[in-house]
Amino acid sequence: MISFNYPPYVETALDYIQQAVASHKICGDGQFTKKCNQWLEERFSAQKALLTTSGTTALDMAALLCDLHPGDEVILPSYTFSSTATAFVLAGAKLVFVDIRPDTMNIDENKIEDAITDKTKVIVAVHYAGVACEMDAIMEIAKKHNLFVVEDAAQGVMSTYRGRALGTIGDFGCYSFHETKNYSMGEGGALIINRPEYNERAEILREKGTNRSKFFRGQVDKYTWVDFGDSYLPSDLNAAYLWAQLEVADKINEDRLHTWNCYHEAFQPLADAGKIEIPVIPAHCTHNAHMFWLKCKDLEERTKLISYLREHDVYSVFHYIPLHSAPAGLKYGRFHGKDEYTTKESERLTRLPLYYGLSEADREQVIEAVRSFFET
Ligand SMILES: Cc1ncc(COP(=O)(O)O)c(C=O)c1O
Repeated sequence: MISFNYPPYVETALDYIQQAVASHKICGDGQFTKKCNQWLEERFSAQKALLTTSGTTALDMAALLCDLHPGDEVILPSYTFSSTATAFVLAGAKLVFVDIRPDTMNIDENKIEDAITDKTKVIVAVHYAGVACEMDAIMEIAKKHNLFVVEDAAQGVMSTYRGRALGTIGDFGCYSFHETKNYSMGEGGALIINRPEYNERAEILREKGTNRSKFFRGQVDKYTWVDFGDSYLPSDLNAAYLWAQLEVADKINEDRLHTWNCYHEAFQPLADAGKIEIPVIPAHCTHNAHMFWLKCKDLEERTKLISYLREHDVYSVFHYIPLHSAPAGLKYGRFHGKDEYTTKESERLTRLPLYYGLSEADREQVIEAVRSFFET
Protein backbone atom coordinates (compact mmCIF):
# COMPACT_ATOMS: atom_id res chain seq x y z
CA MET A 1 0.00 0.00 0.00
CA ILE A 2 1.36 3.44 -0.87
CA SER A 3 1.09 5.47 2.33
CA PHE A 4 -0.72 8.74 2.35
CA ASN A 5 2.08 10.28 4.40
CA TYR A 6 5.52 9.38 5.58
CA PRO A 7 7.13 11.70 8.16
CA PRO A 8 10.10 13.62 6.77
CA TYR A 9 13.45 12.29 7.90
CA VAL A 10 16.94 13.56 7.13
CA GLU A 11 19.94 11.45 8.12
CA THR A 12 21.76 14.20 10.02
CA ALA A 13 18.88 14.18 12.53
CA LEU A 14 20.37 11.34 14.58
CA ASP A 15 23.70 13.11 14.82
CA TYR A 16 22.00 16.31 16.00
CA ILE A 17 19.90 14.42 18.54
CA GLN A 18 23.10 12.84 19.84
CA GLN A 19 24.68 16.29 20.13
CA ALA A 20 21.69 17.51 22.12
CA VAL A 21 22.02 14.51 24.46
CA ALA A 22 25.78 15.06 24.83
CA SER A 23 25.25 18.72 25.72
CA HIS A 24 23.07 17.67 28.69
CA LYS A 25 20.55 20.27 27.60
CA ILE A 26 17.50 18.47 26.33
CA CYS A 27 14.87 20.75 27.85
CA GLY A 28 13.43 23.73 25.97
CA ASP A 29 15.37 26.58 24.41
CA GLY A 30 18.60 24.64 23.93
CA GLN A 31 20.98 25.11 21.01
CA PHE A 32 18.74 23.45 18.39
CA THR A 33 15.63 25.35 19.41
CA LYS A 34 17.63 28.56 19.06
CA LYS A 35 18.92 27.52 15.63
CA CYS A 36 15.38 26.74 14.46
CA ASN A 37 13.98 30.03 15.80
CA GLN A 38 16.76 31.98 14.14
CA TRP A 39 16.35 30.10 10.86
CA LEU A 40 12.62 30.86 10.78
CA GLU A 41 13.29 34.53 11.52
CA GLU A 42 15.96 34.89 8.86
CA ARG A 43 14.40 32.78 6.14
CA PHE A 44 10.95 34.34 6.44
CA SER A 45 12.01 37.86 7.54
CA ALA A 46 9.99 37.24 10.68
CA GLN A 47 10.35 39.68 13.54
CA LYS A 48 10.24 36.87 16.16
CA ALA A 49 9.80 33.10 16.00
CA LEU A 50 9.33 30.80 19.00
CA LEU A 51 9.19 27.03 18.68
CA THR A 52 6.20 25.53 20.48
CA THR A 53 5.06 22.03 21.38
CA SER A 54 2.54 21.96 18.49
CA GLY A 55 0.69 24.02 15.93
CA THR A 56 -2.22 23.82 18.34
CA THR A 57 -0.28 25.42 21.19
CA ALA A 58 1.05 28.10 18.81
CA LEU A 59 -2.62 28.91 18.12
CA ASP A 60 -3.36 28.79 21.87
CA MET A 61 -0.63 31.37 22.44
CA ALA A 62 -1.89 33.57 19.59
CA ALA A 63 -5.43 33.43 21.00
CA LEU A 64 -4.20 34.38 24.49
CA LEU A 65 -2.15 37.26 23.08
CA CYS A 66 -5.33 38.64 21.48
CA ASP A 67 -6.60 39.19 25.06
CA LEU A 68 -10.15 38.01 24.47
CA HIS A 69 -13.01 38.47 26.91
CA PRO A 70 -16.22 36.44 27.35
CA GLY A 71 -18.62 37.23 24.52
CA ASP A 72 -15.90 38.33 22.10
CA GLU A 73 -16.23 36.84 18.64
CA VAL A 74 -13.69 35.31 16.33
CA ILE A 75 -14.26 34.86 12.60
CA LEU A 76 -12.84 31.71 11.00
CA PRO A 77 -13.66 29.19 8.30
CA SER A 78 -15.59 26.08 9.26
CA TYR A 79 -13.50 24.03 6.86
CA THR A 80 -10.45 23.67 9.12
CA PHE A 81 -8.90 21.52 11.83
CA SER A 82 -10.35 21.59 15.35
CA SER A 83 -7.19 23.30 16.67
CA THR A 84 -8.01 26.53 14.82
CA ALA A 85 -11.27 26.73 16.73
CA THR A 86 -10.44 25.25 20.10
CA ALA A 87 -7.64 27.74 20.78
CA PHE A 88 -10.16 30.58 20.67
CA VAL A 89 -12.79 28.67 22.65
CA LEU A 90 -10.22 28.14 25.42
CA ALA A 91 -9.53 31.86 25.36
CA GLY A 92 -13.25 32.48 26.00
CA ALA A 93 -14.45 33.52 22.54
CA LYS A 94 -17.51 32.65 20.49
CA LEU A 95 -16.87 31.31 17.01
CA VAL A 96 -18.40 32.78 13.88
CA PHE A 97 -17.88 30.54 10.87
CA VAL A 98 -17.72 32.04 7.40
CA ASP A 99 -18.01 30.19 4.09
CA ILE A 100 -15.01 29.24 1.94
CA ARG A 101 -14.12 29.84 -1.71
CA PRO A 102 -14.35 26.68 -3.77
CA ASP A 103 -11.11 27.30 -5.73
CA THR A 104 -8.63 27.42 -2.83
CA MET A 105 -10.90 26.12 -0.03
CA ASN A 106 -9.86 29.20 1.98
CA ILE A 107 -12.15 31.60 3.82
CA ASP A 108 -14.02 33.80 1.34
CA GLU A 109 -12.60 37.26 1.97
CA ASN A 110 -15.72 38.80 0.43
CA LYS A 111 -17.97 37.23 3.06
CA ILE A 112 -16.00 38.31 6.14
CA GLU A 113 -17.14 41.90 6.58
CA ASP A 114 -20.81 40.94 6.76
CA ALA A 115 -20.03 38.67 9.75
CA ILE A 116 -18.42 41.45 11.79
CA THR A 117 -20.30 42.71 14.85
CA ASP A 118 -19.28 45.05 17.66
CA LYS A 119 -18.05 41.91 19.50
CA THR A 120 -15.66 40.77 16.76
CA LYS A 121 -12.01 40.82 17.83
CA VAL A 122 -10.12 38.45 15.53
CA ILE A 123 -10.11 37.10 11.98
CA VAL A 124 -8.35 33.75 11.56
CA ALA A 125 -6.95 33.12 8.09
CA VAL A 126 -6.31 29.41 7.56
CA HIS A 127 -4.02 28.86 4.58
CA TYR A 128 -5.44 25.55 3.41
CA ALA A 129 -3.00 23.19 1.66
CA GLY A 130 -0.29 25.85 2.02
CA VAL A 131 -2.07 28.17 -0.43
CA ALA A 132 -2.56 31.71 0.84
CA CYS A 133 -5.83 33.35 1.77
CA GLU A 134 -6.42 36.75 0.15
CA MET A 135 -4.36 38.56 2.76
CA ASP A 136 -4.53 42.09 1.28
CA ALA A 137 -8.32 42.08 1.53
CA ILE A 138 -8.28 40.46 5.00
CA MET A 139 -5.71 42.92 6.37
CA GLU A 140 -7.69 45.85 5.01
CA ILE A 141 -10.90 44.65 6.69
CA ALA A 142 -9.00 44.07 9.94
CA LYS A 143 -7.51 47.55 9.81
CA LYS A 144 -10.87 49.17 9.13
CA HIS A 145 -12.53 47.39 12.07
CA ASN A 146 -9.51 47.32 14.39
CA LEU A 147 -9.27 43.51 14.56
CA PHE A 148 -6.41 41.11 15.12
CA VAL A 149 -5.44 38.77 12.29
CA VAL A 150 -4.10 35.35 13.23
CA GLU A 151 -2.71 33.27 10.37
CA ASP A 152 -3.14 29.56 10.83
CA ALA A 153 -0.20 28.69 8.61
CA ALA A 154 0.07 25.18 10.05
CA GLN A 155 0.25 23.91 6.47
CA GLY A 156 1.93 26.99 5.00
CA VAL A 157 5.62 26.85 5.96
CA MET A 158 7.65 28.03 2.89
CA SER A 159 4.62 29.40 0.99
CA THR A 160 4.27 33.06 0.08
CA TYR A 161 1.65 35.70 -0.66
CA ARG A 162 2.87 38.57 -2.85
CA GLY A 163 6.43 37.64 -1.91
CA ARG A 164 5.81 37.54 1.86
CA ALA A 165 6.07 34.33 3.85
CA LEU A 166 2.78 33.01 5.17
CA GLY A 167 2.63 33.54 8.92
CA THR A 168 4.40 36.92 8.72
CA ILE A 169 1.52 39.03 7.39
CA GLY A 170 -1.08 39.10 10.19
CA ASP A 171 -0.41 39.98 13.84
CA PHE A 172 0.54 36.39 14.68
CA GLY A 173 1.33 33.35 12.55
CA CYS A 174 1.17 29.71 13.63
CA TYR A 175 3.16 26.88 12.07
CA SER A 176 2.86 23.15 12.66
CA PHE A 177 5.76 20.71 12.65
CA HIS A 178 3.56 17.68 13.25
CA GLU A 179 4.64 14.50 11.48
CA THR A 180 2.06 15.08 8.75
CA LYS A 181 3.57 18.44 7.81
CA ASN A 182 6.30 19.35 5.29
CA TYR A 183 8.86 19.81 8.08
CA SER A 184 8.46 17.88 11.26
CA MET A 185 9.68 17.39 14.80
CA GLY A 186 7.10 14.69 15.59
CA GLU A 187 4.88 17.04 17.53
CA GLY A 188 5.76 20.72 17.37
CA GLY A 189 5.06 24.11 15.93
CA ALA A 190 6.09 27.74 16.04
CA LEU A 191 4.52 31.06 16.87
CA ILE A 192 5.52 33.95 14.62
CA ILE A 193 5.04 37.33 16.28
CA ASN A 194 4.81 40.19 13.84
CA ARG A 195 4.33 42.99 16.38
CA PRO A 196 7.35 43.49 18.65
CA GLU A 197 5.21 44.85 21.49
CA TYR A 198 3.96 41.26 22.02
CA ASN A 199 7.40 39.62 22.25
CA GLU A 200 7.75 39.88 26.00
CA ARG A 201 4.20 38.74 26.79
CA ALA A 202 4.66 35.77 24.43
CA GLU A 203 7.89 34.71 26.14
CA ILE A 204 6.19 34.91 29.53
CA LEU A 205 3.20 32.90 28.33
CA ARG A 206 5.50 30.23 26.94
CA GLU A 207 7.64 30.02 30.10
CA LYS A 208 4.91 29.20 32.66
CA GLY A 209 4.21 32.86 33.37
CA THR A 210 7.79 33.69 34.33
CA ASN A 211 10.30 36.14 32.88
CA ARG A 212 12.92 33.39 32.59
CA SER A 213 13.76 34.24 28.96
CA LYS A 214 14.74 37.77 30.08
CA PHE A 215 16.84 36.25 32.87
CA PHE A 216 18.72 33.98 30.44
CA ARG A 217 19.51 37.02 28.29
CA GLY A 218 20.88 38.78 31.38
CA GLN A 219 18.18 41.47 31.28
CA VAL A 220 17.02 40.77 34.86
CA ASP A 221 19.15 39.38 37.72
CA LYS A 222 16.59 36.85 38.88
CA TYR A 223 13.43 35.53 37.37
CA THR A 224 10.00 35.38 38.88
CA TRP A 225 6.33 34.68 38.20
CA VAL A 226 4.97 37.75 36.45
CA ASP A 227 1.69 36.68 34.76
CA PHE A 228 -0.38 33.65 33.83
CA GLY A 229 1.21 31.28 31.38
CA ASP A 230 1.74 27.69 30.40
CA SER A 231 4.53 25.41 29.19
CA TYR A 232 4.84 25.69 25.43
CA LEU A 233 8.53 24.85 25.01
CA PRO A 234 9.41 21.72 23.08
CA SER A 235 12.34 19.54 24.10
CA ASP A 236 15.59 20.31 22.30
CA LEU A 237 15.61 16.66 21.14
CA ASN A 238 12.62 17.42 18.95
CA ALA A 239 14.18 20.65 17.74
CA ALA A 240 17.34 18.71 16.76
CA TYR A 241 15.20 16.44 14.56
CA LEU A 242 13.60 19.49 12.92
CA TRP A 243 16.89 21.34 12.48
CA ALA A 244 18.19 18.58 10.21
CA GLN A 245 15.27 19.29 7.83
CA LEU A 246 15.46 23.08 8.01
CA GLU A 247 19.08 22.85 6.85
CA VAL A 248 17.82 21.22 3.64
CA ALA A 249 14.47 23.00 3.50
CA ASP A 250 14.75 23.85 -0.20
CA LYS A 251 15.58 20.28 -1.17
CA ILE A 252 12.50 19.02 0.68
CA ASN A 253 10.34 21.73 -0.85
CA GLU A 254 11.56 21.01 -4.39
CA ASP A 255 10.99 17.28 -3.97
CA ARG A 256 7.39 17.85 -2.84
CA LEU A 257 6.76 20.42 -5.58
CA HIS A 258 8.04 17.96 -8.18
CA THR A 259 5.49 15.33 -7.08
CA TRP A 260 2.74 17.95 -6.93
CA ASN A 261 3.57 19.26 -10.43
CA CYS A 262 3.60 15.72 -11.84
CA TYR A 263 0.14 15.08 -10.36
CA HIS A 264 -1.12 18.41 -11.67
CA GLU A 265 0.13 17.77 -15.18
CA ALA A 266 -1.13 14.19 -15.21
CA PHE A 267 -4.63 15.14 -14.06
CA GLN A 268 -5.08 18.29 -16.15
CA PRO A 269 -6.74 16.32 -19.00
CA LEU A 270 -9.28 14.85 -16.54
CA ALA A 271 -9.94 18.36 -15.24
CA ASP A 272 -10.27 19.71 -18.80
CA ALA A 273 -12.77 16.97 -19.53
CA GLY A 274 -14.82 18.14 -16.52
CA LYS A 275 -14.39 14.86 -14.63
CA ILE A 276 -12.51 16.27 -11.65
CA GLU A 277 -11.32 19.56 -10.20
CA ILE A 278 -7.71 20.11 -9.17
CA PRO A 279 -6.07 22.86 -7.06
CA VAL A 280 -5.77 26.44 -8.24
CA ILE A 281 -2.74 28.46 -7.16
CA PRO A 282 -3.43 32.21 -7.50
CA ALA A 283 -0.78 33.93 -9.64
CA HIS A 284 0.49 36.11 -6.78
CA CYS A 285 1.10 33.10 -4.49
CA THR A 286 3.78 30.45 -4.30
CA HIS A 287 2.99 27.24 -2.48
CA ASN A 288 4.85 24.50 -0.68
CA ALA A 289 3.10 21.45 -2.16
CA HIS A 290 1.71 20.59 1.24
CA MET A 291 -1.17 18.72 -0.34
CA PHE A 292 -2.50 17.52 -3.66
CA TRP A 293 -6.26 17.30 -3.60
CA LEU A 294 -8.80 16.52 -6.23
CA LYS A 295 -12.54 16.94 -6.18
CA CYS A 296 -15.02 14.36 -7.40
CA LYS A 297 -18.55 15.05 -8.59
CA ASP A 298 -20.08 14.34 -5.18
CA LEU A 299 -19.76 12.39 -1.93
CA GLU A 300 -20.90 9.13 -3.52
CA GLU A 301 -18.24 9.28 -6.24
CA ARG A 302 -15.57 10.22 -3.70
CA THR A 303 -16.44 7.22 -1.51
CA LYS A 304 -16.13 4.96 -4.54
CA LEU A 305 -12.82 6.55 -5.57
CA ILE A 306 -11.27 6.12 -2.11
CA SER A 307 -12.25 2.42 -2.00
CA TYR A 308 -11.08 1.88 -5.57
CA LEU A 309 -7.71 3.44 -4.77
CA ARG A 310 -7.34 1.26 -1.64
CA GLU A 311 -8.05 -1.81 -3.76
CA HIS A 312 -5.19 -0.59 -5.97
CA ASP A 313 -2.86 -0.11 -2.99
CA VAL A 314 -3.15 3.67 -2.88
CA TYR A 315 -4.05 5.27 0.42
CA SER A 316 -6.12 8.38 -0.27
CA VAL A 317 -7.94 10.26 2.48
CA PHE A 318 -10.68 12.84 2.70
CA HIS A 319 -10.26 15.87 4.94
CA TYR A 320 -12.14 18.04 7.40
CA ILE A 321 -15.74 17.52 8.35
CA PRO A 322 -16.89 21.14 8.65
CA LEU A 323 -16.62 22.33 12.23
CA HIS A 324 -19.99 24.10 12.32
CA SER A 325 -21.75 20.74 12.00
CA ALA A 326 -19.57 18.99 14.63
CA PRO A 327 -20.91 18.73 18.23
CA ALA A 328 -18.41 21.28 19.58
CA GLY A 329 -19.00 23.59 16.64
CA LEU A 330 -22.71 23.64 17.43
CA LYS A 331 -21.93 24.37 21.07
CA TYR A 332 -19.34 27.10 20.61
CA GLY A 333 -20.18 28.72 17.34
CA ARG A 334 -22.57 29.66 14.59
CA PHE A 335 -22.32 29.81 10.83
CA HIS A 336 -22.80 33.30 9.46
CA GLY A 337 -24.63 33.55 6.15
CA LYS A 338 -25.22 30.74 3.71
CA ASP A 339 -23.17 27.55 3.65
CA GLU A 340 -22.81 27.68 -0.09
CA TYR A 341 -19.54 25.80 -0.45
CA THR A 342 -18.20 24.58 2.91
CA THR A 343 -20.22 21.36 3.21
CA LYS A 344 -20.60 20.63 -0.49
CA GLU A 345 -16.94 21.09 -1.38
CA SER A 346 -15.64 19.26 1.71
CA GLU A 347 -17.64 16.19 0.67
CA ARG A 348 -16.07 16.11 -2.79
CA LEU A 349 -12.41 16.51 -1.83
CA THR A 350 -9.85 13.76 -1.40
CA ARG A 351 -6.07 13.94 -0.91
CA LEU A 352 -3.44 11.85 -2.67
CA PRO A 353 -0.20 10.47 -1.20
CA LEU A 354 2.41 13.21 -1.05
CA TYR A 355 5.53 13.22 1.08
CA TYR A 356 9.24 13.93 0.89
CA GLY A 357 10.87 11.03 -0.92
CA LEU A 358 7.76 9.60 -2.62
CA SER A 359 9.28 7.44 -5.37
CA GLU A 360 8.60 7.93 -9.05
CA ALA A 361 7.22 4.39 -9.27
CA ASP A 362 4.75 5.03 -6.44
CA ARG A 363 3.76 8.36 -7.92
CA GLU A 364 3.08 6.73 -11.28
CA GLN A 365 1.02 4.02 -9.58
CA VAL A 366 -1.12 6.69 -7.92
CA ILE A 367 -1.58 8.50 -11.24
CA GLU A 368 -2.49 5.30 -13.05
CA ALA A 369 -5.00 4.27 -10.39
CA VAL A 370 -6.76 7.66 -10.47
CA ARG A 371 -6.81 7.71 -14.27
CA SER A 372 -8.21 4.21 -14.53
CA PHE A 373 -11.00 5.07 -12.08
CA PHE A 374 -12.15 8.08 -14.10
CA GLU A 375 -11.50 6.67 -17.54
CA THR A 376 -13.50 3.47 -17.14
C1 LIG B 1 -5.01 23.99 9.63
C2 LIG B 1 -4.39 23.37 10.82
N1 LIG B 1 -4.36 24.07 11.98
C3 LIG B 1 -3.79 23.56 13.09
C4 LIG B 1 -3.22 22.31 13.11
C5 LIG B 1 -2.66 21.78 14.38
O1 LIG B 1 -1.29 21.51 14.33
P1 LIG B 1 -0.66 20.42 15.32
O2 LIG B 1 -1.08 19.08 14.85
O3 LIG B 1 0.83 20.66 15.15
O4 LIG B 1 -1.11 20.73 16.68
C6 LIG B 1 -3.22 21.56 11.93
C7 LIG B 1 -2.58 20.23 11.92
O5 LIG B 1 -3.05 19.22 11.61
C8 LIG B 1 -3.81 22.09 10.76
O6 LIG B 1 -3.83 21.40 9.61
